[in-house]
Amino acid sequence: MEQTFIILKPSTIQRGLVGDVLTRFQRKGLQITAMKMAQLTEAILREHYAHLIEKPFFPDLLRSMMATPVILMVLKGKDAVEVVRQMIGSTNCRKAAPGTIRGDFGMSGQENIVHASDSIDNAIIEINRFFKPEEIYDYDLLLKPATYAPDEL
Ligand code: TYD
Repeated sequence: MEQTFIILKPSTIQRGLVGDVLTRFQRKGLQITAMKMAQLTEAILREHYAHLIEKPFFPDLLRSMMATPVILMVLKGKDAVEVVRQMIGSTNCRKAAPGTIRGDFGMSGQENIVHASDSIDNAIIEINRFFKPEEIYDYDLLLKPATYAPDEL
């Protein structure tokens, strides 16, 4: 099944929203296959946000992402990349639809609660960037038969 990469950003840590965000992913039926706390560095952020290095907001983005340690996660499920992107909503929390994580929990375009991979290819790259293979757990979710139809597994 597909896996996707998530960062609970410093805004989530500072605002005490870790439990709320995590609960949403778990209630949806997504499986946590990896999770750890880490202090991000400029070097890894320059890789992760390589597509944004030339943007005027990049120095602020760096500061924002290094403001506190973050929580890194891998979530697994059918079509997990697309499902999680829909759950988080548009980049700017003020424009994100109500009901989405950004739409419900944030007011900012930068302090926007979560990162989630935007494609299957990027999910694989990002998971490998932030996790060693032995940090990702392959275990059976007992609720799977209640979460999916047989032909969806
Ligand atoms: P981006 O990859 O465009 O969006 P997303 O996180 O939804 O995949 O941007 C990465 C992060 O850069 C975004 O989550 C917050 C920050 N950012 C800004 O601070 N200002 C901006 O104008 C944009 C577009 C992004």
